Amino acid sequence: MKRSAFVWINDELSALSQARVSVDDRGFLYGDGFFETLRAEDGCVPFLNEHLERLRASAQAFRINFPDQVSWEDRLTRLLAANGLQQGIAAVKILLTRGEATGLGLPNSPSPTLVIWARPYQPPAPEEYEAGWPVVVFPARRTTFIGGHKSLNYLFYLAARQYALDQGAKEALILEVDGLVSEGAATSLIVALSNRFLTPASPSALPGVTVAVLARALGRRGKNLERAQLQLSQVQEVDGLWLANSLMSVMPVSSLAGESMPQASEKTRFLQECLAQEAKS
Ligand SMILES: Cc1ncc(COP(=O)(O)O)c(C=O)c1O
Repeated sequence: MKRSAFVWINDELSALSQARVSVDDRGFLYGDGFFETLRAEDGCVPFLNEHLERLRASAQAFRINFPDQVSWEDRLTRLLAANGLQQGIAAVKILLTRGEATGLGLPNSPSPTLVIWARPYQPPAPEEYEAGWPVVVFPARRTTFIGGHKSLNYLFYLAARQYALDQGAKEALILEVDGLVSEGAATSLIVALSNRFLTPASPSALPGVTVAVLARALGRRGKNLERAQLQLSQVQEVDGLWLANSLMSVMPVSSLAGESMPQASEKTRFLQECLAQEAKS
């Protein structure tokens, strides 16, 4: 029999079937909240602090009270155990909304809603990491201050990912309004140019935890992850292009807008190994 799933709603660990969020919650009404997606492996959740820092910074920027009293590691341990996810890979999601409060603007709400759930996560197959993912360019461009936050207003990214899927691709590349390369629909970008690694400097991209961790890992090895403004035409000429996020780690791009991209398997393994080692340290 399938075990029932459990989820934290504020301070209660509830059966998913019992868990309720009000229809007056501003997360539902306006997307007035933020989320984090983390990867748990054998009960450990690496880079938890980096994710919480990003969530806290977004909450503060938008005047949502951040629940500082929460004992995050304890909650995650209990959540993974309740869901039978102490072994293997799981996706953990932390959602924080303003909760219930009336009025437009960013009203003060004494009780934000905090939801934490965990589900089994099946990473892409090893052959996919070997062959890479086809990526297409999403035609609608994006420049918004909210892009820098992992906000619950995720519709743009869902539409971008669907655009890619409808074309038989796996990810959509997002451009800033002025044409600068920004990120993927659910991924940050890494570029290899000769012996350098770059990531796009893009004013409205999400500051990715994975990219930050990779920058740290490369630094330990005497290398840099440089931030550079990149045009699409430049990215089409690079020596290697990768997608990166917390769940998937680093995935090479096999083609961009229908044009094959050079495969740099050694660099792929190097980047994946950098992340794996940081997760252990
Ligand atoms: C739009 C967007 N960019 C980048 C990323 C990568 O972020 P992280 O490395 O923090 O998972 C994500 C993650 O889902 C995302 O949604």
